[in-house]
Amino acid sequence: MIPIAEPLLAWYTRHGRHDLPWRQTRDPYRLWLAEIMLQQTRVESVKPYYTRFLQALPDWRALAAAPQDQVLALWSGLGYYTRARNAQRAAQVVMAGFAGHFPDTLEKAVTLPGVGRSTAAAVLASAFGHRQAILDANARRVLIRSHAIAADPKATATQQWLWTLASALTPEDAHGYNQAIQDLGAMICTPRQPRCTDCPLASRCKAHAEGRSHALPVTVHRPPKPQRRAFFLLAADPEGRILLEKRPDSGIWGGLWCLPQAAPDSGELSNLCNDTLPPLEDTPAIRQFLQEAWSRRLRLDLRLTALGEEQQHVFTHFQLRFRCAHARVLGSAVADSAATLRWYRPADALAQGLPTPIRRILRNLGGGR
Ligand code: ADE
Repeated sequence: MIPIAEPLLAWYTRHGRHDLPWRQTRDPYRLWLAEIMLQQTRVESVKPYYTRFLQALPDWRALAAAPQDQVLALWSGLGYYTRARNAQRAAQVVMAGFAGHFPDTLEKAVTLPGVGRSTAAAVLASAFGHRQAILDANARRVLIRSHAIAADPKATATQQWLWTLASALTPEDAHGYNQAIQDLGAMICTPRQPRCTDCPLASRCKAHAEGRSHALPVTVHRPPKPQRRAFFLLAADPEGRILLEKRPDSGIWGGLWCLPQAAPDSGELSNLCNDTLPPLEDTPAIRQFLQEAWSRRLRLDLRLTALGEEQQHVFTHFQLRFRCAHARVLGSAVADSAATLRWYRPADALAQGLPTPIRRILRNLGGGR
C-alpha cells in the first residue's frame, strides 16, 4: 500500500476546485443531491441543474412532496432519469423513515433508493465528518495507477481489492481527502493524457515508475451493445402542437413524456420489418401499418406525411435506432383523450421531463432551449 493522503491533501489545498457549489455546504441534502447528479455526469453539466433544482426544491420535504412531473422536468436533459425518480423516492424515505434526516450510518444510508456505497460514503464524510472511503471513477483511476493494478477494474475481485485499498488509505480527514482524490482524478490523473509531470503522487506512483500510466486502467473489450429500434410519431394538430404520451412509471423512461412509439421488433410490425438490423426501412406497407396502428390506439385520424432518416442514440446498456414518422391530424377531434396523452406546442414540450433523444428531436423542430 502506497501512502498518498499527505501529498494529496497538500496539493488539494493549493490546486483543488474549492469553488464548486456543493463544496460550500455541509448540508446532507445538498451534498447528497450533488453526488446523485454527478453520477455518470460531468461537473460542468451538473452545475446549472444543481442550482435550478435547489432553488425549486430546497430540502427533503419539498422534494418528497413535489409532483413527479416537476422533478423530471428539473432533471430533463441531465439523462439517466432513474436517478430523478430514485431521488424523489429517497427523499420520501428520509421523510417517512428517518424523520427528515439523512441516515447517519453507511448501512442505513445505502438502503435509500439510488444511493450506493460510494455515494453514501461521500455524504457521510462531508456532512458528518465520518471516516468513510469513496470509490467513484476518479478515485478508482488514481488508486489503479498509483498501485499499478492491471486487473479488469469491473471484475468483482478487483472491486473488493480497491475498496480495501481505499478504506485503508483514507485518513481521518475523509472529507478533504475524498474531494482531493476526486480532483486529482478529474484534473491531473485523467483517463487520457494524464499530466504526470504536475502530479503530487508521481514520485510514489507505480504506474508512472513503470511507464504504464497511459495503459492503466486496462480496457476490457466487451460484446457490442444490444440494439433496439423504434418508430416515433410526430403528430401535429392544425395549430402545430405535438402529441406527447406519458410513459408508465417503470422502465428506463418511466414517468417521462415521450413521442408515441411503435416497436418494429415485436408484434405485427415485426413481420414487416427486416430483422437483421440494417437501417429501418421505409416501405408503403410499414407506413400504412404505422398510420393505422397509431390512429386506432390514439383514437385520431392520422395521415403519415413523411418518414425521417434513421437516427441513433447510445445508452449505457443498449443502442436505440429510430425514425420519426411525421403525421397530420385530420378533423377537429383532437382534445386530450387520456391523462397520459397531451398536446404541446414544441416550446412547451421542451419544458417537460423528456428522454434525451426525444428532446433532440423536438429541438430540431425549432422549439429552442
Ligand atoms: N464527482 C462525484 N462527486 C464529486 C464531487 N463531490 N466533486 C466533484 N466531482 C465529483
